[in-house]
Amino acid sequence: MERLLTNNKYSGEDNKHYEGAYTQGNGYLNLRATFEEDLSGATQNDLYWRLPANVTLEKARHPKSKWGLYVPGVYGVHPILGEEIVNLPYGIGINLYSGGERLDMEESDYGDFSRSLNLSNGLLTRALVWRSPEGDIAVTFRRYCSLQHKHTIVQEVELCSASNAELEFESFMDAGVTTNGYSHITDRCGAYRDGLELYASTDSEQRIGMASRCFGGALGEARFEPMDVNGRIRETFRVGLKAGETVAIRKYVWVATSADEDYRGGIEEHLAAVVRASAPDEADFSVHEKLWKDKWNRSDIVIQGNEQLQNSLRFSIYHLLRSANESDKVAIDAKGYAGEAYFGHYFWDTEIYLLPFYIYTQPEYAKKLIAYRYRTLQGARENARRYGYAGARYPWESCVTGTEQCSNWQYADLEIHVTADVVYGLAHYCEATGDREFLLGPGLEMMVETARYWVSRIDRIDGEYRLMGVMGPDEYLPYTHDNAFTNYMVKFSLRKTLETLELVKTAGEPDCTAPLGVTAEERTMFAEIANQLAFGEDAERKFVAQCAGFEDFLDVDFDVVWTDRSKPFGQFISQERNYRSKALKQADVVALLYLFRDRFDEETKRNCLAYYEPITTHDSSLSYIFHSLLYNEIDDRDKAYAFLEKSLELDLGRKGAAEGIHIANSGGIWQAVVLGMGGFRGLADSDLLDVKPRLPDSIRALEYNVCVRGKWHRVAATHEGVQVKELIEERGRKD
Ligand code: BGC
Repeated sequence: MERLLTNNKYSGEDNKHYEGAYTQGNGYLNLRATFEEDLSGATQNDLYWRLPANVTLEKARHPKSKWGLYVPGVYGVHPILGEEIVNLPYGIGINLYSGGERLDMEESDYGDFSRSLNLSNGLLTRALVWRSPEGDIAVTFRRYCSLQHKHTIVQEVELCSASNAELEFESFMDAGVTTNGYSHITDRCGAYRDGLELYASTDSEQRIGMASRCFGGALGEARFEPMDVNGRIRETFRVGLKAGETVAIRKYVWVATSADEDYRGGIEEHLAAVVRASAPDEADFSVHEKLWKDKWNRSDIVIQGNEQLQNSLRFSIYHLLRSANESDKVAIDAKGYAGEAYFGHYFWDTEIYLLPFYIYTQPEYAKKLIAYRYRTLQGARENARRYGYAGARYPWESCVTGTEQCSNWQYADLEIHVTADVVYGLAHYCEATGDREFLLGPGLEMMVETARYWVSRIDRIDGEYRLMGVMGPDEYLPYTHDNAFTNYMVKFSLRKTLETLELVKTAGEPDCTAPLGVTAEERTMFAEIANQLAFGEDAERKFVAQCAGFEDFLDVDFDVVWTDRSKPFGQFISQERNYRSKALKQADVVALLYLFRDRFDEETKRNCLAYYEPITTHDSSLSYIFHSLLYNEIDDRDKAYAFLEKSLELDLGRKGAAEGIHIANSGGIWQAVVLGMGGFRGLADSDLLDVKPRLPDSIRALEYNVCVRGKWHRVAATHEGVQVKELIEERGRKD
């Protein structure tokens, strides 16, 4: 299986998009698809303040290129943005010189340019013919982040000159990098042993070590240059090229940090151990490919009849596989570690958009995401305390500690649904995988602690339970009361908590609730709020109001205000006016009705879609998918497909991936295909492997795998019917 994404034209205009879209990763590190060499007009050490803003409406910096090498778990402390992912020193640098000219995609004369990413094995290739002062030289760069040796990036440069030539091959590492215009690197130094070594510290007192070695018969003696004022170290080799002969040079780069699980003995010792243990050899690439193949065998989806969907779906799956981390100290940030927008923070995206893909096709990664929330429970407790509440309050923007990292008060203070979303994700995971141990241990603790938060956060006004002053998923209405999505999620999470407490009793499990100290009064409160908290449902009208008094907000004449629909609506209206208007940023009630699809009848779904869709701007990339999924629920396949189609474009077209991948949307695309048109209901709130596909006309057949309670199933759907086969192979489908 070879699946290539290819681009045949370099332009400074859209280069950053390809850097994001072709990002590589291996569960330890992630690397934007930047060029190995320096690019004129794309300095990487500019300092500026990226201030907290609405990311959807912000103007990004670094127009042409942004280096990005991220090891999740390495975080700096930004004075305003809080814990922020750190862009690591650029270890993979290679400059080529011929007759005094440096290869530079902005300045050099070249032809036959192509760059491609092979989705099946994560290999990035760039080829061009450089019309150098010494004649034409065909140059091919290849690189991959080894799946076998996770600390290692393997690079190759292949050179073939039309005439005899003598090049300079400069390998460099550069610590003069920034993250969102901020330097988290507090000290740095270089060393030379058998190759380059670079050491740096972050402002959170983490240590980073990097080593590189260059190999290849054509390389002359190395000339080492110590670190310059900008933080760059380099070694340069002469390379003699004979006319028509192909020469290959390899560079291995190792990355190690003090955040690594096996870190001990100081960064130099740790780096040396990493280099010893993970030197790749000739066989590395085939092992690497095999490991990628295993991942694909579980998660791939085969679609017949619709190439656009097939390709974008595989693009999404690639990024979901690439960005999943081996460690449960971190989750997956909003940009899939392919850029720096959102500062490397984790949102409700994790539970609601990403988790289903992992639960059903990579359950061990799903567990890591859930375990991450358990690891950060202490931070959630601190948040609750800081706000003056009991229990645990998960942050709107989470990072390594679990304390609130969002510096915009509206979201930080008000978007509290995330705490209930975490329990929704947890319950979904436990139900679908059957992981009772987690449910009755860490899971129950998370549930009880969040339930305690809700009890203290909810007000009793005139004898009624109310959840006042919240922002639902629709971020264009900040301060509302009784947001339906939030209230229903809270009811669900309290019910799940009670059910789980009950399970301990009935299952004859050893009573693990004692340390949690849940009192009878607390149980009564959980039950009372779960039953009595209202959420804007009008059973007669078959309608759900987004929040109390929603209809009183201002009507917007969209045709007058939103004069250019290629840009976000939010750019055409002041925030002050937007905040009191009936214009939704994203699915809110629509999301609720899908997530609890068995609780609401078809008429309510139809009525709500008819009411909310025309006033939803989809300014958030998270919006389309829930529209697709809910239209599918009411069997409007055309609309379901039309919304899915809009999401397919987000990272593949329109320069969309420049600041990173909309990874929640990638997870959403998987859901729209498997849980939507593919008919797999999932086990969040039902108990059956009940598959009812609803294929749109453009799709002849669809095949996918799902793992339910440890058993793998292959579902093959056509317009004529569906076949569900249990797979014997424990780890998924055999080739
Ligand atoms: C959306 C949020 C989302 C965040 C990160 C925002 O624009 O409105 O719902 O969690 O982006 O993806």
